[in-house]
Amino acid sequence: MKNNSLILIQTNFKLITNYLLKNKFNKIVIICDTNSMQFCLPILVSNVNPLLKAEIIEVDASEESKSFETVTSILETLFELKLNKSDLIINLGGGVVADLGGFVASIYKRGVNFINIPTTLLAMVDASVGGKNGINYFNLKNSIGTIVQPNLVFINNSFLKTLPVEHYQNGLAEVYKIALINNKTFWNSLQIGKLTELELIKKAITLKQNIVNKDPFEKGLRKILNFGHTIAHAIEMFYVKNNLFILHGYAVVIGMIVETHIAFQKKLISKDTLNEVVTTLVSKFTIEITLKLNYLDLKPYLIQDKKNKNGIIKMALLNDIGKCKHDITVTEKEISKALLFFEGTN
Ligand SMILES: NC(=O)c1ccc[n+]([C@@H]2O[C@H](COP(=O)([O-])OP(=O)(O)OC[C@H]3O[C@@H](n4cnc5c(N)ncnc54)[C@H](O)[C@@H]3O)[C@@H](O)[C@H]2O)c1
Repeated sequence: MKNNSLILIQTNFKLITNYLLKNKFNKIVIICDTNSMQFCLPILVSNVNPLLKAEIIEVDASEESKSFETVTSILETLFELKLNKSDLIINLGGGVVADLGGFVASIYKRGVNFINIPTTLLAMVDASVGGKNGINYFNLKNSIGTIVQPNLVFINNSFLKTLPVEHYQNGLAEVYKIALINNKTFWNSLQIGKLTELELIKKAITLKQNIVNKDPFEKGLRKILNFGHTIAHAIEMFYVKNNLFILHGYAVVIGMIVETHIAFQKKLISKDTLNEVVTTLVSKFTIEITLKLNYLDLKPYLIQDKKNKNGIIKMALLNDIGKCKHDITVTEKEISKALLFFEGTN
């Protein structure tokens, strides 16, 4: 099985046009959500001639679209359009469209060709790598899905011009995460803001690809991608329980601050490193927290984390900037202390 698909990154549309001209797909279906249809589809179609006759399927711009209902409705349209295995589906949108459209493409007639054209920063730097597709079911996120690589991922950062700032920050959180766990030089460049947007996207993708390639099935190293996410997932679920919502990226930023403090308590990093991480994250992200966070409220979710072993909470923690260890046992006391520390930074 391929671990990574071909990722083409450019500021114009020549590579994708050439790819489509060369492959001569008979039928092409583009799946979009309401926003990517309004903001991105006109740009794509007007720049890529082979797409002028593409069929369009639109889904609601919402996480709720990652459902069996939407899957069934798209599948029915594909049958009506008589799409064949040799035809092509293009998923144009953020992570929702990529996950949903990739899932549909991987099960329709046991799999058809598909291309992802991500239009959010998160989908470019994170969802574009790894081949995970899926929907939410039984109140569980991404609980049904496949791991199938798209034929191609085409990234053009001009789509990001219309992306709302909070969704931009949502993706940026994963960029900072990958730098923190894997590459000090990249972290330093992010701090001084010397990279172009395209350079930043390329670097983040390459670093994630390297990790995924070394450990495609998350047996060890790949677990470091979960840095910040143990706390983040618990916060997201705690918000849902209170009928509130927090964007994943903001929860990840809080998670990174809390988990960095845990690393400090465990003497994995120095006070200077803790300060550098926290000061940078606080200055780069607007963290608005509407719920007070304490261990007892997060506990029900933390103990369910899939990385735990025998009920013991395990985390991926920094042991320097650009370095991360996985499967580290963390105590309730350490989490409580780190949450209090976070409160002081906010
Ligand atoms: N498969 C993976 O490896 C992977 C990795 C990370 C996240 N995900 C999934 O991705 C989803 C989150 O992705 P997301 O943050 O991209 O959310 P999203 O797809 O919901 O997009 C965020 C918002 O931006 C809008 N939008 C998209 N492109 C736009 C553009 N260019 N201009 C204006 N608006 C635009 C969307 O309509 C939506 O309202 C989650 O479901 C998550 O589970 C998957």
